[in-house]
Formats: sequence, C-alpha cells, structure tokens
Amino acid sequence: MLACAPVLIRDPAALRGRWREAFGCGRLKAELGCGFGRFALTVARREPETFLLGVEKVPSVLVAAAEQALAAGQPNLRFVAAQAEELAAWFAPGELDTVYLNFSDPWPKERHAKRRLTSAAHLALYAQVLVPQGSLEFKTDNAALFSWSLEQLGEAGWRIAEYTEDLHKDGLAGAVTDYELKFHARGLPIRFVRALPPLPASGPEGSPAAETDA
Ligand SMILES: C[S@@+](CC[C@H](N)C(=O)[O-])C[C@H]1O[C@@H](n2cnc3c(N)ncnc32)[C@H](O)[C@@H]1O
Repeated sequence: MLACAPVLIRDPAALRGRWREAFGCGRLKAELGCGFGRFALTVARREPETFLLGVEKVPSVLVAAAEQALAAGQPNLRFVAAQAEELAAWFAPGELDTVYLNFSDPWPKERHAKRRLTSAAHLALYAQVLVPQGSLEFKTDNAALFSWSLEQLGEAGWRIAEYTEDLHKDGLAGAVTDYELKFHARGLPIRFVRALPPLPASGPEGSPAAETDA
C-alpha cells in the first residue's frame, strides 16, 4: 500500500468540492467497485481531460489496481481504498459527471438487497453527487440483478438514456473490465444501461422542472 501512495487518495473528503481545481480536469468520474482497475485505466488513457477515481473496498485488490496505474504513470487516475457508500463525504452535491458500476456484486439473497450498489439508497446517493446532466452507467452479466436494477431506477425516477441486453453482440465495444472479458469469452451477454438522474421536483405552482432530456 505504501509503495502505491502516489496513486492513492488517503483523504478524499479533503478534496470535496474542489476535485476539478485540484486535478485540473474537465470531467470528473468515479468507478465504484473497480476491482483490478482495467476499466478505470482504459478510460483514463482514452479521456485525458477526465479525472477518474477508482473506489475499491478490498485493499489487496486495490493494491493490484494501483500498481498497474503506477506503472502506467496515468496522471488523471487515482484510487481510494474505501466503501462506495462514503461517496457523499468525498463529493459535493452536483460535482460528479459519471458514476460507473461494473459487474457489481449481485447479493442474490433478498435480505441483502440493500447492499446492491443499485439499491434505492445507493441511487439516491448517486443522484446527490451527480451533476444534473450526469449519468450512471451500469454493466452486468447478471440478468436478475439487471432487471431488479432497472426497476429500482424506474421507481426512483431515473431516465433511461441507453439500454441493451447484449452490449457486445457485434464485438467488444468500449472500455472493458476483467470480469467483462471473462464473461464475454464464455459467450455470456453483457447488459448495459446508462441512466440520467431524476429531474428536480416541480415548483410549488406546478411549473415544469427546468432540466430536459438533452
Ligand atoms: C464482481 S467484482 C467486479 C470488479 C470489476 N468492476 C470488474 O468488472 O472486473 C466487484 C468488486 O466490487 C468491490 N465492491 C463491492 N462492493 C463495494 C462497495 N460497497 N464499495 C467498494 N467496493 C465494492 C468488490 O470488492 C469487488 O472487487
């Protein structure tokens, strides 16, 4: 962990509200449960104007991701060893452009549903830290988790901007994760949704919300 210090953020809360200023970036994105970091590193390489924060709760996994980022010398990629649920302590309301959830743990037992990163409480957290035009991008091989997550998004008022049950039907597309490569090699379809946060509630006179689906 010590050797990876240059790519780790020890106190993300200290950057709350000033990530763009601190890293001189245009867009600000976070991947929650980034695993070994393949996706985060690919996005950071492809989008030099973006700053990407990889969040991973298992320190040994995080170290593997950090070592790769360190070797790559990617200036716009950093990691935090923590729980995704702390997000609002690190980012001010409306500070993040994109939240990525890639192959999040499915927590199949109903009594663990609240731990799923697409639960209503998690979605509320993302809605709080995302800019109004921001988005949540979610990929999974798990059909049950995907349909449950679509229900959660709908119930919470998120708007579906993109959706597919087979993201790579014409060959691998976009930045991919380690799990994604494995599942794709086995012929499993990858589900993908990009959703926009709920529009602010109408004013007291019933005036329509200012934001539109651009
Ligand atoms: C199934 S793996 C997927 C890893 C990677 N996204 C990929 O697609 O290769 C899920 C990862 O999310 C991490 N994770 C699960 N819940 C988390 C949470 N609440 N906060 C941070 N990391 C979490 C796990 O430790 C694990 O590394």
